[in-house]
Amino acid sequence: MAVPMVQTAVWKMAAADLKSDLDLSTEELRTLLDLASKVKRTPSRFASALAGRYLTLLFEKPSLRTRLTFELAIKQLGGDAVVCIGPIGGREPLKDVARNLDRWTQGIVARVFEQTTIEEMAKWSSVPVINALSDLYHPCQALADFQTILERFGTFEGIKLTFVGDGNNVAHSLMLDASRLGVDFAIATPKGYEPNPGIVAQARAYAENNGVRVTITNDPVEAVSGAHTVYTDVWASMGQEEEASTRHRIFAPYQVTGEMMSAARPDAIFMHCLPAKRGLEVSDEVMEMPRSAVFDQAENRLHAQKALLMMLVK
Ligand code: CP
Ligand code: NVA
Repeated sequence: MAVPMVQTAVWKMAAADLKSDLDLSTEELRTLLDLASKVKRTPSRFASALAGRYLTLLFEKPSLRTRLTFELAIKQLGGDAVVCIGPIGGREPLKDVARNLDRWTQGIVARVFEQTTIEEMAKWSSVPVINALSDLYHPCQALADFQTILERFGTFEGIKLTFVGDGNNVAHSLMLDASRLGVDFAIATPKGYEPNPGIVAQARAYAENNGVRVTITNDPVEAVSGAHTVYTDVWASMGQEEEASTRHRIFAPYQVTGEMMSAARPDAIFMHCLPAKRGLEVSDEVMEMPRSAVFDQAENRLHAQKALLMMLVK
């Protein structure tokens, strides 16, 4: 006799969209990570969670992981996706784009240049809008990253996450989630490349409530001292290609090398959202070391986004 499909009830998010990390409350963030781990263990239980739902995936910038893991996540949950690549809103106002897409599909996943594009789409769309990376945030990446940290260390308590490099979108999302999950966060950047002061202030307020710290420094060795995880990202993000050669010169002392890893805890893992530029922000040796978690992070994009879609899409 066929075994009936187990359809698990999922706690829906209070917010209508994921414009930034903060649209998930701390409690919802913990729930999502728990659900992501269940989905990873028993994906078949969730095989019809998005049955009959279609999502639009919009990409103003290139993507490997985000595009493929969203497409796979939606399909493995029983739904389907249409993909649109190129500038959003060039031919017509964003408010019109949003009100076309919400007539055809039950959710919009968008990778954009400007955070305001996400905000405007979310304002006009009657279906959830998910930020798949903007100039300010990369919330879907941070979800997979905290799932990975939890798998590696079994807890967030007493954990220190250090980011070395540019105070960019990925750093902002990690900082906002770390401070809410009770993880100490340190970032070392060259002078002038520190994270957005408004986002730092938000993260520090959460950190204070949770008894952890957000440390901003220009000294990478000081930042990685005592770290359980050393994280880096490209020095020039998508859209900053013209600054690449200047940045490569300025950021050279911030390359994550075996020597820098040895200033962290002996069991410290290496993390990177990928794509990585070996020989720039990270050495080939560190990318390939057994304590490199980069492909676990990439895998967890799939599971964490499944959890997010189930909590957001109606
Ligand atoms: N980490 C990440 O978002 O990868 P893609 O740019 O390939 O989507
Ligand atoms: N900071 C990088 C992340 C890529 C996934 C960028 O925005 O290009």
